[in-house]
Amino acid sequence: MPKVTFKKNRVLPKDYVLEAEPGKTILEIAQAEGIPIGANCGGVCGCSTCHIYVVKGFDSLDEMEDREEDRLDLGFDVRLNSRLGCQARTSSEDLMVDVTEESLKAFFDENPKIRKHYEATGELLMVPHSH
Ligand code: FES
Repeated sequence: MPKVTFKKNRVLPKDYVLEAEPGKTILEIAQAEGIPIGANCGGVCGCSTCHIYVVKGFDSLDEMEDREEDRLDLGFDVRLNSRLGCQARTSSEDLMVDVTEESLKAFFDENPKIRKHYEATGELLMVPHSH
């Protein structure tokens, strides 16, 4: 099974390496473990809050469809290795992913209890979310 590494960021205290079933989206993999990532539209390519940078393994992902490209255009600081987490599916190769600042902000807006706890204690509550 491929491994997906979520890079440490301003809220995630360390790199998280997760085993992933091929064909799952990055968003599903992150949410199953409570890794912070925005998902305003619920994963249907209707926003850009699940914006990620794919640091390793970008070419192993399925190609972007027009819908995803159009949505990504609405994102902030879009780069050559940008994808939407809800549209990018794993294949058999390992990936490394960096969740964007835009996505972290959206995650806290969507999860006020987790934000409150984080602001009060500096600790991130990782609450798994199933699909
Ligand atoms: S969660 Fe809205 S586009 Fe991915």
